[in-house]
Amino acid sequence: MTTQEEIIKVRKPRPDHPVIKEIANRFSPRHFLSEEINIDDINSIFEAARFAPSGWNYQPWYFYWSKNGERSFIKMVACLEKYNRYAQSASVLVVGCFIKQFKGKKSYYRHDLGAAVMSLVLQAQHLGYYCRQMGEFDGSKLKELLTFDKEHHPFVIIALGKLGDYIRIDKNLLKREMEQKPRKKDFVKKLD
Ligand SMILES: Cc1cc2nc3c(=O)[nH]c(=O)nc-3n(C[C@H](O)[C@H](O)[C@H](O)COP(=O)(O)O)c2cc1C
Repeated sequence: MTTQEEIIKVRKPRPDHPVIKEIANRFSPRHFLSEEINIDDINSIFEAARFAPSGWNYQPWYFYWSKNGERSFIKMVACLEKYNRYAQSASVLVVGCFIKQFKGKKSYYRHDLGAAVMSLVLQAQHLGYYCRQMGEFDGSKLKELLTFDKEHHPFVIIALGKLGDYIRIDKNLLKREMEQKPRKKDFVKKLD
């Protein structure tokens, strides 16, 4: 029987240098507890996204969310690629959208949405939750099934919740969960 501790041991980052604990503990699980998240935590998680930096302070992001069991949640799950359907165990699903605002200036909307999402993810981690971002979903179907403002372009779906207990879990999913996610080391160069 695999335990949460074993998953954490395998998946937890192994930084070579000290980093804040939210980064040192963060990984993206595919198995969640499904229990309800209190609204204060939800508000804090979105508040963190709100204060992300953005080009020209355009804040070109918008988030739609729903709770496990709700009609919109079930529709979101149905739009995910099959291999992403593990997300049905999440407590909350969030659709992160970008907004293509230009106003005559260069816009960095995908980058800015990413920054807002990372703020959200780290705040969630700080509060004891985990997130897994998913880019692989049927965007056209999602727009058919749910009502989005026409300026809001769904780009990522985020599964959010407490880490699952890993006792009742599909064998194949568990195998995927036990894979390490190593990081390349060659990514920074000090210039002369
Ligand atoms: C923009 C983006 C899209 C992603 N899409 C998917 C996805 O469709 N399905 C999935 O299972 N994971 C997806 N991931 C999760 C990554 O695979 C994961 O973050 C990566 O393997 C590193 O693992 P870690 O987050 O546990 O460190 C996505 C992550 C990002 C940032």
